[in-house]
Amino acid sequence: MKVFISRLIPEIAATMIREAGHDVTQFVERRDIPIDEMIELCKGHEGFLNVSHNKLDKHFLEASSHLKVLSLFSVGYDHVDIAAATKLKIPVGHTPGVLSASTADTAFMLMLTVSRKAFYLHKSIGKGEWNYYDPIANLGMELTGKTLGILGLGKIGFEMAKRCKGAYDMKVIYHNRGTNPEAEKAFDAERVSFADLLNQSDVLSVHSSLNSETAGLFNAAAFKQMKPTSIFINTSRGGLHNEADLLNALTGGTIWGAGLDVTNPEPMNADNPLLNLPNVAIVPHIGSATIEARTGMARIAAMNIIAGLNGERLPYPVNPEIYK
Ligand code: DGY
Repeated sequence: MKVFISRLIPEIAATMIREAGHDVTQFVERRDIPIDEMIELCKGHEGFLNVSHNKLDKHFLEASSHLKVLSLFSVGYDHVDIAAATKLKIPVGHTPGVLSASTADTAFMLMLTVSRKAFYLHKSIGKGEWNYYDPIANLGMELTGKTLGILGLGKIGFEMAKRCKGAYDMKVIYHNRGTNPEAEKAFDAERVSFADLLNQSDVLSVHSSLNSETAGLFNAAAFKQMKPTSIFINTSRGGLHNEADLLNALTGGTIWGAGLDVTNPEPMNADNPLLNLPNVAIVPHIGSATIEARTGMARIAAMNIIAGLNGERLPYPVNPEIYK
Protein backbone atom coordinates (compact mmCIF):
# COMPACT_ATOMS: atom_id res chain seq x y z
CA MET A 1 0.00 0.00 0.00
CA LYS A 2 0.97 3.64 -0.27
CA VAL A 3 1.68 6.15 2.50
CA PHE A 4 1.87 9.94 2.21
CA ILE A 5 4.09 11.80 4.72
CA SER A 6 3.41 15.54 4.66
CA ARG A 7 6.82 16.86 5.80
CA LEU A 8 10.38 15.74 6.39
CA ILE A 9 10.63 13.91 9.74
CA PRO A 10 13.32 11.56 11.12
CA GLU A 11 14.15 8.96 8.48
CA ILE A 12 13.21 6.07 10.80
CA ALA A 13 9.50 6.55 9.95
CA ALA A 14 9.88 6.05 6.19
CA THR A 15 12.38 3.23 6.77
CA MET A 16 10.00 1.32 9.06
CA ILE A 17 7.06 1.79 6.67
CA ARG A 18 9.12 0.65 3.66
CA GLU A 19 10.46 -2.35 5.61
CA ALA A 20 6.85 -3.30 6.30
CA GLY A 21 6.40 -3.53 2.51
CA HIS A 22 4.70 -0.22 1.71
CA ASP A 23 5.58 2.65 -0.62
CA VAL A 24 6.26 6.09 0.81
CA THR A 25 5.69 9.48 -0.81
CA GLN A 26 7.22 12.30 1.25
CA PHE A 27 6.46 16.01 0.72
CA VAL A 28 9.82 17.76 0.95
CA GLU A 29 8.94 21.40 0.27
CA ARG A 30 9.26 23.56 3.39
CA ARG A 31 5.79 25.12 3.30
CA ASP A 32 2.29 24.53 4.65
CA ILE A 33 0.05 22.55 2.33
CA PRO A 34 -3.38 24.14 1.73
CA ILE A 35 -6.19 21.74 2.53
CA ASP A 36 -7.39 21.21 -1.05
CA GLU A 37 -3.82 20.47 -2.18
CA MET A 38 -3.56 18.02 0.76
CA ILE A 39 -6.72 16.27 -0.43
CA GLU A 40 -5.16 15.85 -3.89
CA LEU A 41 -1.85 14.64 -2.41
CA CYS A 42 -3.58 12.04 -0.24
CA LYS A 43 -5.42 10.55 -3.21
CA GLY A 44 -4.01 7.15 -4.12
CA HIS A 45 -2.55 6.68 -0.62
CA GLU A 46 -4.07 4.38 1.99
CA GLY A 47 -1.99 5.77 4.85
CA PHE A 48 -1.46 9.43 5.75
CA LEU A 49 1.21 10.52 8.21
CA ASN A 50 0.31 14.14 8.95
CA VAL A 51 3.04 16.35 10.31
CA SER A 52 1.69 19.91 10.41
CA HIS A 53 -0.83 21.42 12.86
CA ASN A 54 -3.07 22.54 9.99
CA LYS A 55 -6.75 21.79 10.43
CA LEU A 56 -7.87 18.41 9.15
CA ASP A 57 -11.58 19.17 9.10
CA LYS A 58 -14.72 17.30 8.07
CA HIS A 59 -14.27 18.49 4.46
CA PHE A 60 -10.78 16.99 4.32
CA LEU A 61 -11.80 13.76 6.02
CA GLU A 62 -14.87 13.20 3.86
CA ALA A 63 -12.77 13.80 0.74
CA SER A 64 -10.18 11.33 2.11
CA SER A 65 -12.56 8.63 3.32
CA HIS A 66 -10.44 6.04 1.44
CA LEU A 67 -7.73 6.35 4.15
CA LYS A 68 -7.16 3.22 6.18
CA VAL A 69 -5.22 5.17 8.77
CA LEU A 70 -4.41 8.77 9.73
CA SER A 71 -1.28 8.93 11.85
CA LEU A 72 -0.45 12.24 13.55
CA PHE A 73 3.12 13.33 14.24
CA SER A 74 2.01 14.90 17.53
CA VAL A 75 0.43 14.00 20.82
CA GLY A 76 -2.12 16.81 20.40
CA TYR A 77 -5.05 16.23 18.06
CA ASP A 78 -7.04 19.44 18.47
CA HIS A 79 -6.43 20.16 14.77
CA VAL A 80 -8.34 17.08 13.64
CA ASP A 81 -12.12 16.59 13.55
CA ILE A 82 -11.96 13.31 15.46
CA ALA A 83 -15.76 12.87 15.48
CA ALA A 84 -15.79 13.04 11.67
CA ALA A 85 -12.88 10.57 11.41
CA THR A 86 -14.67 8.18 13.76
CA LYS A 87 -17.89 8.42 11.77
CA LEU A 88 -15.92 7.57 8.62
CA LYS A 89 -14.23 4.70 10.51
CA ILE A 90 -10.76 6.17 9.93
CA PRO A 91 -8.48 5.21 12.84
CA VAL A 92 -6.43 8.17 14.06
CA GLY A 93 -3.14 7.64 15.91
CA HIS A 94 -0.93 10.01 17.92
CA THR A 95 2.42 9.97 19.74
CA PRO A 96 2.02 10.19 23.55
CA GLY A 97 4.77 9.61 26.10
CA VAL A 98 7.92 10.07 24.02
CA LEU A 99 7.78 13.87 24.17
CA SER A 100 6.79 14.27 27.82
CA ALA A 101 10.33 14.81 29.13
CA SER A 102 11.34 17.25 26.39
CA THR A 103 8.14 19.28 26.72
CA ALA A 104 8.50 19.43 30.52
CA ASP A 105 12.12 20.53 30.02
CA THR A 106 10.83 23.35 27.82
CA ALA A 107 8.31 24.46 30.46
CA PHE A 108 10.98 24.29 33.16
CA MET A 109 13.47 26.20 31.01
CA LEU A 110 10.87 28.92 30.32
CA MET A 111 10.05 29.19 34.03
CA LEU A 112 13.69 29.67 34.96
CA THR A 113 14.35 31.99 32.02
CA VAL A 114 11.39 34.22 32.90
CA SER A 115 12.24 34.24 36.61
CA ARG A 116 15.66 35.76 35.74
CA LYS A 117 14.60 37.76 32.64
CA ALA A 118 17.33 35.86 30.82
CA PHE A 119 16.28 36.26 27.18
CA TYR A 120 15.66 39.99 27.59
CA LEU A 121 19.00 40.56 29.33
CA HIS A 122 20.81 38.47 26.72
CA LYS A 123 19.38 40.78 24.02
CA SER A 124 20.22 43.90 26.08
CA ILE A 125 23.95 43.06 26.05
CA GLY A 126 23.84 43.00 22.25
CA LYS A 127 22.25 46.46 22.35
CA GLY A 128 25.19 47.80 24.38
CA GLU A 129 23.16 48.18 27.58
CA TRP A 130 25.59 46.39 29.94
CA ASN A 131 27.59 49.41 31.04
CA TYR A 132 28.34 48.83 34.70
CA TYR A 133 27.44 46.49 37.57
CA ASP A 134 24.13 47.71 38.99
CA PRO A 135 23.09 45.91 42.19
CA ILE A 136 19.50 47.10 42.06
CA ALA A 137 18.81 46.39 38.40
CA ASN A 138 17.88 43.19 36.56
CA LEU A 139 16.48 41.58 39.69
CA GLY A 140 14.78 38.24 39.18
CA MET A 141 12.79 36.00 41.43
CA GLU A 142 13.80 32.78 43.23
CA LEU A 143 11.71 29.66 42.88
CA THR A 144 12.59 27.64 45.97
CA GLY A 145 9.54 26.72 48.04
CA LYS A 146 7.14 28.48 45.68
CA THR A 147 3.85 26.94 44.53
CA LEU A 148 3.65 25.32 41.11
CA GLY A 149 0.12 25.13 39.72
CA ILE A 150 -0.53 22.77 36.84
CA LEU A 151 -3.54 22.87 34.58
CA GLY A 152 -3.87 19.36 33.17
CA LEU A 153 -1.64 17.08 35.19
CA GLY A 154 -1.08 14.21 32.76
CA LYS A 155 2.22 12.75 31.52
CA ILE A 156 3.85 16.10 30.68
CA GLY A 157 2.53 17.85 33.79
CA PHE A 158 3.90 14.96 35.87
CA GLU A 159 7.37 15.49 34.41
CA MET A 160 7.15 19.23 35.07
CA ALA A 161 6.11 18.58 38.69
CA LYS A 162 9.03 16.14 39.08
CA ARG A 163 11.52 18.77 37.91
CA CYS A 164 10.07 21.57 40.06
CA LYS A 165 9.85 19.38 43.16
CA GLY A 166 13.37 18.04 42.69
CA ALA A 167 15.06 21.34 41.88
CA TYR A 168 13.14 23.79 44.07
CA ASP A 169 11.01 21.71 46.44
CA MET A 170 7.98 23.50 45.06
CA LYS A 171 4.53 22.78 46.44
CA VAL A 172 2.45 21.21 43.66
CA ILE A 173 -1.24 21.97 43.12
CA TYR A 174 -3.22 20.99 40.06
CA HIS A 175 -6.58 21.31 38.38
CA ASN A 176 -7.85 18.33 36.40
CA ARG A 177 -11.21 16.76 35.61
CA GLY A 178 -10.18 13.70 37.66
CA THR A 179 -7.55 13.09 40.32
CA ASN A 180 -3.98 12.02 39.59
CA PRO A 181 -3.21 9.59 42.45
CA GLU A 182 0.32 8.93 41.14
CA ALA A 183 1.23 12.63 41.36
CA GLU A 184 -0.46 12.99 44.72
CA LYS A 185 1.69 10.13 46.03
CA ALA A 186 4.94 11.19 44.35
CA PHE A 187 4.80 14.96 44.99
CA ASP A 188 2.12 15.41 47.62
CA ALA A 189 0.24 17.18 44.85
CA GLU A 190 -3.12 18.66 45.79
CA ARG A 191 -6.11 18.89 43.43
CA VAL A 192 -7.74 22.31 43.66
CA SER A 193 -10.51 24.27 41.94
CA PHE A 194 -9.61 26.40 38.92
CA ALA A 195 -10.13 29.53 41.03
CA ASP A 196 -7.64 28.25 43.64
CA LEU A 197 -5.18 27.27 40.94
CA LEU A 198 -5.28 30.87 39.73
CA ASN A 199 -4.98 32.57 43.08
CA GLN A 200 -2.48 30.20 44.77
CA SER A 201 0.07 29.51 42.01
CA ASP A 202 3.40 31.32 41.92
CA VAL A 203 4.11 29.55 38.64
CA LEU A 204 1.10 28.39 36.62
CA SER A 205 2.04 25.90 33.93
CA VAL A 206 -0.50 24.89 31.30
CA HIS A 207 -0.40 21.27 30.10
CA SER A 208 -4.03 20.75 29.19
CA SER A 209 -5.19 19.91 25.68
CA LEU A 210 -7.06 22.49 23.63
CA ASN A 211 -10.77 21.78 23.44
CA SER A 212 -14.08 23.62 23.70
CA GLU A 213 -13.75 23.79 27.50
CA THR A 214 -10.18 25.11 27.58
CA ALA A 215 -10.13 27.48 24.57
CA GLY A 216 -9.44 31.03 25.75
CA LEU A 217 -9.46 29.95 29.42
CA PHE A 218 -6.64 32.33 30.29
CA ASN A 219 -8.29 35.65 29.59
CA ALA A 220 -8.39 39.00 31.40
CA ALA A 221 -10.70 37.63 34.12
CA ALA A 222 -8.38 34.68 34.80
CA PHE A 223 -5.17 36.76 34.85
CA LYS A 224 -6.87 39.14 37.27
CA GLN A 225 -7.25 36.30 39.77
CA MET A 226 -3.54 35.42 39.63
CA LYS A 227 -0.90 36.84 41.96
CA PRO A 228 0.89 40.00 40.71
CA THR A 229 4.13 38.10 41.36
CA SER A 230 3.10 35.01 39.35
CA ILE A 231 4.58 33.53 36.19
CA PHE A 232 2.36 32.06 33.45
CA ILE A 233 3.84 29.25 31.35
CA ASN A 234 2.15 27.71 28.31
CA THR A 235 3.71 24.79 26.43
CA SER A 236 0.39 23.28 25.41
CA ARG A 237 -1.51 25.26 22.75
CA GLY A 238 -1.69 29.00 22.11
CA GLY A 239 -5.47 28.74 21.92
CA LEU A 240 -5.66 28.35 25.71
CA HIS A 241 -4.63 31.94 26.35
CA ASN A 242 -5.87 35.22 24.95
CA GLU A 243 -2.73 36.95 23.69
CA ALA A 244 -4.09 40.53 23.94
CA ASP A 245 -5.25 39.89 27.53
CA LEU A 246 -1.87 38.37 28.37
CA LEU A 247 -0.08 41.43 27.02
CA ASN A 248 -2.31 43.71 29.12
CA ALA A 249 -1.80 41.55 32.21
CA LEU A 250 1.98 41.78 31.79
CA THR A 251 2.22 45.47 30.99
CA GLY A 252 -0.34 46.38 33.67
CA GLY A 253 1.40 44.40 36.41
CA THR A 254 -1.52 41.96 36.86
CA ILE A 255 0.99 39.09 36.59
CA TRP A 256 4.79 39.19 36.75
CA GLY A 257 5.97 37.22 33.75
CA ALA A 258 5.17 34.70 31.01
CA GLY A 259 6.94 31.94 29.13
CA LEU A 260 5.41 30.65 25.92
CA ASP A 261 6.31 27.76 23.64
CA VAL A 262 2.98 28.16 21.87
CA THR A 263 1.32 31.28 20.50
CA ASN A 264 -1.84 32.28 18.74
CA PRO A 265 -1.39 32.43 15.81
CA GLU A 266 1.69 30.36 14.99
CA PRO A 267 4.15 31.39 13.77
CA MET A 268 4.13 34.55 15.93
CA ASN A 269 4.71 37.83 14.05
CA ALA A 270 8.20 39.29 14.45
CA ASP A 271 6.72 42.61 15.62
CA ASN A 272 4.63 41.09 18.43
CA PRO A 273 5.06 43.41 21.47
CA LEU A 274 5.34 40.41 23.81
CA LEU A 275 8.80 39.78 22.34
CA ASN A 276 10.15 43.00 23.84
CA LEU A 277 8.93 42.66 27.42
CA PRO A 278 11.59 42.00 30.09
CA ASN A 279 9.75 39.23 31.93
CA VAL A 280 8.76 37.28 28.85
CA ALA A 281 10.46 34.36 27.12
CA ILE A 282 9.09 32.92 23.91
CA VAL A 283 10.32 29.96 21.87
CA PRO A 284 8.88 28.69 18.56
CA HIS A 285 6.90 25.56 19.54
CA ILE A 286 9.99 23.49 20.37
CA GLY A 287 8.47 21.38 23.17
CA SER A 288 9.20 18.12 21.38
CA ALA A 289 12.25 19.39 19.47
CA THR A 290 14.91 17.02 20.75
CA ILE A 291 16.56 14.26 18.74
CA GLU A 292 15.21 11.71 21.21
CA ALA A 293 11.60 12.94 21.23
CA ARG A 294 11.31 13.51 17.49
CA THR A 295 12.85 10.09 16.76
CA GLY A 296 10.40 8.50 19.21
CA MET A 297 7.51 10.34 17.57
CA ALA A 298 8.58 9.16 14.11
CA ARG A 299 8.81 5.58 15.35
CA ILE A 300 5.35 5.65 16.98
CA ALA A 301 3.78 7.41 14.00
CA ALA A 302 5.18 4.65 11.74
CA MET A 303 3.91 1.95 14.12
CA ASN A 304 0.43 3.48 13.92
CA ILE A 305 0.62 3.56 10.09
CA ILE A 306 1.77 -0.04 9.80
CA ALA A 307 -0.89 -1.36 12.20
CA GLY A 308 -3.61 0.64 10.42
CA LEU A 309 -2.61 -0.66 6.99
CA ASN A 310 -2.66 -4.20 8.38
CA GLY A 311 -6.21 -3.63 9.64
CA GLU A 312 -4.96 -3.99 13.22
CA ARG A 313 -5.75 -1.82 16.23
CA LEU A 314 -3.38 1.16 16.34
CA PRO A 315 -0.91 0.94 19.24
CA TYR A 316 -1.64 4.59 20.12
CA PRO A 317 -5.19 5.34 18.99
CA VAL A 318 -7.02 8.63 19.53
CA ASN A 319 -10.44 7.18 18.62
CA PRO A 320 -10.40 3.59 19.98
CA GLU A 321 -14.20 3.61 19.91
CA ILE A 322 -14.06 2.69 16.21
CA TYR A 323 -12.98 -0.81 17.28
CA LYS A 324 -16.17 -1.44 19.24
C1 DGY B 1 2.41 17.82 20.04
O1 DGY B 1 2.91 16.70 19.91
O2 DGY B 1 1.20 17.99 20.13
C2 DGY B 1 3.36 18.96 20.10
O3 DGY B 1 2.71 20.18 20.13
C3 DGY B 1 4.36 18.91 18.97
O4 DGY B 1 3.74 18.97 17.78
